Amino acid sequence: MASSAPSSSLLLLLLLLIVLLAAAATASSPNRNGYVHLRFYNHERILGSGPNATVVYSVHRTSSSSVSGFGNVYVYDNLLRAGVETDSPIIGRNQGMGVGSSMAENSGLTNFQLVFTAGEYNGSSLALQGLFPVAPLGTLFERAITGGTGKFRLARGYLLTSEVHATNTTLTGQLDAYISFR
Ligand SMILES: *[C@@H]1O[C@H](CO)[C@@H](O)[C@H](O)[C@H]1NC(C)=O
Ligand SMILES: *[C@@H]1O[C@H](CO)[C@@H](O)[C@H](O)[C@H]1NC(C)=O
Ligand SMILES: *[C@@H]1O[C@H](CO)[C@@H](O)[C@H](O)[C@H]1NC(C)=O
Repeated sequence: MASSAPSSSLLLLLLLLIVLLAAAATASSPNRNGYVHLRFYNHERILGSGPNATVVYSVHRTSSSSVSGFGNVYVYDNLLRAGVETDSPIIGRNQGMGVGSSMAENSGLTNFQLVFTAGEYNGSSLALQGLFPVAPLGTLFERAITGGTGKFRLARGYLLTSEVHATNTTLTGQLDAYISFR
């Protein structure tokens, strides 16, 4: 009988441990599948110089003036703003690269990161890729959200883009991100 007391208290301890582990697992996996639609604006300064919104050509292998000439590589760091106005609040940056990737059409493959620096998603980012067509203003096109960091871990979704304003040195796009995340 002397041995039954320790073994039953061991059993109790094990049960307690299992209950605690189950509680911890529930607390640490929110399993609330997030979904959000965000709208913001990409401010690109095509021929600018200086720190903001600048497209840098790394490789420009044709003499054509076309941005997306086949084989051209360009790198950019654009500002994301809450609105289309050039003084609306900055909410992040769009950093990435594009490669002229179509022999037949004027389009490029883009690979980029949207890094949020303000608001609820400050510090989180989205990873994206997809075709960027050279098309008239207002043309709607779609790229894939393939991942994310921070609050956007395991993100999946799509980004709709429409260029809404252009001057000879700037291009402003409306971005609608539809994001599912953990
Ligand atoms: C340049 O970027 C900084 C922040 O990175 C911002 O404060 C400033 O307003 C920007 N300037 C322009 C002209 O967009
Ligand atoms: C965003 O987060 C950084 C780092 O935590 C912080 O320094 C910064 O003030 C935040 N920006 C805004 C606009 O909340
Ligand atoms: C861009 O347009 C402005 C007028 O809006 C003009 O003054 C300037 O010369 C143009 N620049 C180029 C490079 O065409």
